[in-house]
Amino acid sequence: MGGNSFGEVFRITTWGESHGKAVGMVLDGCPAGLELCEADIQAELDRRRPGQSIVTSAREETDKIEILSGLFDGKTIGTPISMLVQNVDVDSSKYESLRYTPRPGHADFTYELKYGIRDWRGGGRSAARETVARVAGGAIAKKLLKSQKIEILGHVTQIGGISVGWTTLDQIRENVEQNIVRCADMETAERMIQHIKKVQANKDSVGGIIEIIALNVPAGVGEPVFDKLDADLAKALMSIGSVKGVDIGVGFRCATMQGSEMNDPFVLRKGIVMTYTNNAGGVLGGISNGMPIVCRIAVKPTPSIERIQKTVDLAEKKERDIQIKGRHDPCICPRIVPVAEAMVALVLADQMIIGGFIRPSK
Ligand SMILES: Cc1cc2nc3c(=O)[nH]c(=O)nc-3n(C[C@H](O)[C@H](O)[C@H](O)COP(=O)(O)O)c2cc1C
Repeated sequence: MGGNSFGEVFRITTWGESHGKAVGMVLDGCPAGLELCEADIQAELDRRRPGQSIVTSAREETDKIEILSGLFDGKTIGTPISMLVQNVDVDSSKYESLRYTPRPGHADFTYELKYGIRDWRGGGRSAARETVARVAGGAIAKKLLKSQKIEILGHVTQIGGISVGWTTLDQIRENVEQNIVRCADMETAERMIQHIKKVQANKDSVGGIIEIIALNVPAGVGEPVFDKLDADLAKALMSIGSVKGVDIGVGFRCATMQGSEMNDPFVLRKGIVMTYTNNAGGVLGGISNGMPIVCRIAVKPTPSIERIQKTVDLAEKKERDIQIKGRHDPCICPRIVPVAEAMVALVLADQMIIGGFIRPSK
């Protein structure tokens, strides 16, 4: 199976299956001299882990990180950084009945078709568990970017038909970790929670939209033609399971705008060229323009639902009804926030090293 690595120079490789012994990653190309400890990574993993609240999967994983290589005296030394997290709360019994019957909306069918063999326990390699490794790598990228004063903020802006209005950066910073749906507005968060509960009681699931903002990215990051910053961001975000759309700046809304509305006028502020608006989302011609980078992702409703659904028994070649038990997120959005932030951080770290903004040793 190819496709387990991401990035050119700051390059992450993830490994592991949901109900195997452990999941982990190897990160190559991290500059030497970056102060790093397990607590830096653990804090991010704690935001992603299941069992956090009534709107996430009940799987009780501690997600305790172990760093195996790449550090000495509390600093990176330029060698590959490898880490792992043991899978502790594994219960494969609920998946036995799904061995030959692919779940609609999940990756079971296509993995079976392509490889002819798959670890069907808990979704195997296609499960959300793989994102532990992305978040671990993203935590290192975030630390590296923080040394350049870059901040990455993610928040849920919509769940089902409930969306948040205009929110300030301070609201995002202050409120997102104060409610279980990671919405920047506490009142909207409560409505979102009630909506998820209602949908879940109806044995169903719901999707939503997440916005990720990168602040203080210098102008000039991104490599045309094929490695444009927005192209890399789109690939990174689209590679997260259940993400079905990515937009940057005004995104798809640009189709209904006119040039005079879409173009961001240039202005001079304290001698620095900026744009008055940010419809471009901080990227022009694949290169950052110094404005905040703003991306949004559309997340589909969790495929595993308790409703009876139609599928095919691949062994007996017969149509069947299935009911999925297991432990699942009724809405994936809150748990995707740290994953999406991690992917944006990985792209920025890679592109900033390639562009010479960050040197191989600090
Ligand atoms: C953080 C996270 C949590 C997820 N939780 C679940 C879950 O509990 N149940 C489920 O069926 N899918 C879950 N998914 C989605 C599946 O992994 C995803 O739909 C599947 O791999 C198929 O990929 P695709 O939707 O991109 O086509 C989760 C994804 C992420 C990133």
